[in-house]
Amino acid sequence: MNRARTRGAIALAGAAAIATVVGLASSANAGTTLGASAAEKGRYFGTAVAAYKLSDATYSGILDREFNMITPENEMKWDATEPSQNSFSYGSADQIVSHARANGQRMRGHALAWHSQQPSWVQNLSGTALRNAMVNHVTNVATHYKGQIYAWDVVNEAFADGGNGARRDSNLQRTGDDWIEVAFRTARTADPGAKLCYNDYNTDGVNAKSTAVYNMVKDFKARGVPIDCVGFQSHINSGSPMPSDYQANLQRFADLGVDVQITELDIQGSGTTQANTYASVVKACLAVSRCTGITVWGIRDSDSWRSGDTPLLFDNNGNKKAAYQSTLDALNGPGGGVSTPPTSTPPVSTSPSPSASASPSNTGGGTGNRCTASVLINQWQGGFTATVRVTAGSTAINNWTVTMALPAGTTIVNTWNVNRSGNNWTNMSYNGRVEAGQYTEWGLQANGTAGTLTPTCAGS
Ligand code: XIL
Repeated sequence: MNRARTRGAIALAGAAAIATVVGLASSANAGTTLGASAAEKGRYFGTAVAAYKLSDATYSGILDREFNMITPENEMKWDATEPSQNSFSYGSADQIVSHARANGQRMRGHALAWHSQQPSWVQNLSGTALRNAMVNHVTNVATHYKGQIYAWDVVNEAFADGGNGARRDSNLQRTGDDWIEVAFRTARTADPGAKLCYNDYNTDGVNAKSTAVYNMVKDFKARGVPIDCVGFQSHINSGSPMPSDYQANLQRFADLGVDVQITELDIQGSGTTQANTYASVVKACLAVSRCTGITVWGIRDSDSWRSGDTPLLFDNNGNKKAAYQSTLDALNGPGGGVSTPPTSTPPVSTSPSPSASASPSNTGGGTGNRCTASVLINQWQGGFTATVRVTAGSTAINNWTVTMALPAGTTIVNTWNVNRSGNNWTNMSYNGRVEAGQYTEWGLQANGTAGTLTPTCAGS
């Protein structure tokens, strides 16, 4: 361990010890916060952060006490950073980066090229125009944050679920198979100091999808396409449990000569069961010398995109859960050397893991004036997200209002790409214009049960 890291860890541990009483440390060097304990093992412990929550003292208190890596939950995505073509908007993301700088935290950038959360102007592009727009986007965003990002998720979720290891169909994929390597080369040119990662979900065990990613990484390494790391989202729930070969899967990627990182960890559940799964994930990372860190996807359960799953380490009031303690204990436990040579070999085959847990459970539709609206609901126990698509009719619209009531008893946790006034949902400044026959999407997350939602659309 280098001196600077030791000093930092001790300073952090000392500050945390004053603020809180935690369980007995299990080794002489054990830290008393997630970040300090991970640092003792040469790793980071991070969380996803929403800029608008930084003014919440409970939220930022926990953030700055426990975490030493930050991923913006939405603020660096394409829709946030380039809402209209070649017009970049970095306000919210910059706020997070400034916070990190002021508090000694590092940044994971997320995500430069992705099929989801694209602004509508991108959704409307194809072919060379889209490819050029992607290159311009990667160049601009990676250049803006040059020198400030530890690792970028350059490409997110480019492989399909299911058994055939194919690429996911998307507008980016339709520009040609080489879109991924073009994104990586572009990012390297813009910010040579950042580690460049490929990030995906349902790749946490050895299965057809993770093997397809594995083959891509192997090919990139062989051909000199710049790739430094692979992110495993690890959204673990009853439909997508922790695979028994989780560690072996991390190891087989590490053996290709890339770092591996757990990038969006959340685990549905509560009590001892949830605590044990968190500990297993931490131990798996510590057992793989190139597993450089773990990021949980939010701080309190109420901050989670799947808050109904109570999947995080702190309860709604910011209190530590059993899962927090088991995570800290695992970080402080044995193992975790960063220079240990790999010990395990990848298994030859296992059953594929279940398909995406976020599959839509229900769709509804409605017609109105000059536009139509349809909704895709992802319901889990206690909560849901609704993604609403506004499609223009045979002439373009400049503004839209969707009328959609939520059932009594639901409470909204989060909304995106929309302004709300009661049951009326209207466009933001950047997504009101929808060309004839094209669409834009906005969404919300709520606690409760969505049932059947019936949006109607009025455009002008
Ligand atoms: C999620 C955010 O948590 C939500 O706030 C947002 O509404 C949708 O996106 N995989 C990813 C993340 O790579 O960017 C997603 O984050 C969760 C799934």
